[in-house]
Amino acid sequence: MLKLTKALFCAAAVSMAGLAQAADPIVIKFAHVVAENTPKGQGALMFQKRVAADPKLKDKIKVEVYPNSSLFGDGKEMEALLLGDVQMLAPSLAKFEHYNKQVQIFDLPFLFNDLAAVDRFQQGPQGKALLTSMDDKGIHGLAYWHNGLKQLSANKKVILPKDARGLKFRVQASSVLEEQFKAIRANPRKMSFAEVYQGLQTGTVNGTENTWSNYESQKVHEVQPFFTETNHGLIDYMVITNAKFWNSLPEDVRGELQAIMDQVTVEVNKQAEALNQTAKQKIIDAKTSEIDTLTAEQRQQWREAMRPVWDKFSNDIGADLIKAADGANKDS
Ligand code: LMR
Repeated sequence: MLKLTKALFCAAAVSMAGLAQAADPIVIKFAHVVAENTPKGQGALMFQKRVAADPKLKDKIKVEVYPNSSLFGDGKEMEALLLGDVQMLAPSLAKFEHYNKQVQIFDLPFLFNDLAAVDRFQQGPQGKALLTSMDDKGIHGLAYWHNGLKQLSANKKVILPKDARGLKFRVQASSVLEEQFKAIRANPRKMSFAEVYQGLQTGTVNGTENTWSNYESQKVHEVQPFFTETNHGLIDYMVITNAKFWNSLPEDVRGELQAIMDQVTVEVNKQAEALNQTAKQKIIDAKTSEIDTLTAEQRQQWREAMRPVWDKFSNDIGADLIKAADGANKDS
């Protein structure tokens, strides 16, 4: 009798454990390298919040957000996604060249006149096709998020391309960006985002390029006395997931997650420019650095100096794709 009761108790315990397991939500770890008060940082939190509040998802999916390279930094995060150690990332578009060289298009200097042109290209057929172009490599794109246009920073005043000659600039892991700095006879150094502040502080590099929100949230103005408002290139993101993980989700869950991602994307892209302008104002208010703007003629010199980079990459990217992206400027 005692044995039977024990056996029944064990069976009940096992089945209860089974029930508890079945009710456990699927965890989506969303890792990124920037601060929370940036377009991507805000987007990740918004996604987490909306999934948690969604009646169809709240018991099934739990999103955990890891900002500031706290789970994985540059260099490791893509590998971690492919291994299933993290389920979502939003790397800058400069960080995809090992998976699809066509994504390098977004790094071409002076390609897009403004974010409206970027939107037209990303939401057009060629831009959308890039989102699913790495599925066979295990990377599935869910959306494009804006950060914004890049500005230069340096330890000296840089107004014309010749002023940057010989300076060491930190770049993201991108061959296009390396060539962009070589085109102005500066020295590019690939470096992960988490190392930028220290690299600038110690003089490993003399300058860099980024958006106002990334500069301000990393306190780059503490170690860079000069910024130049060049708007010479783009920092945007592809929100990606592990393709196998994504396809393993029940269809209704996948559909609901994509719907939330689409809503969040609209919000992120609407807010990005304002976040960058607020960050710029904070740098002005900190009075640590001079911000120089360019005349149309000065900016033209930068354009002419950097544009030869397009030809170097046109075979890898595809002339048709470059034409389509350039064509997106027409309505600006
Ligand atoms: C950088 O490395 O400068 C950026 O890609 C960081 C980011 O994700 O905005």
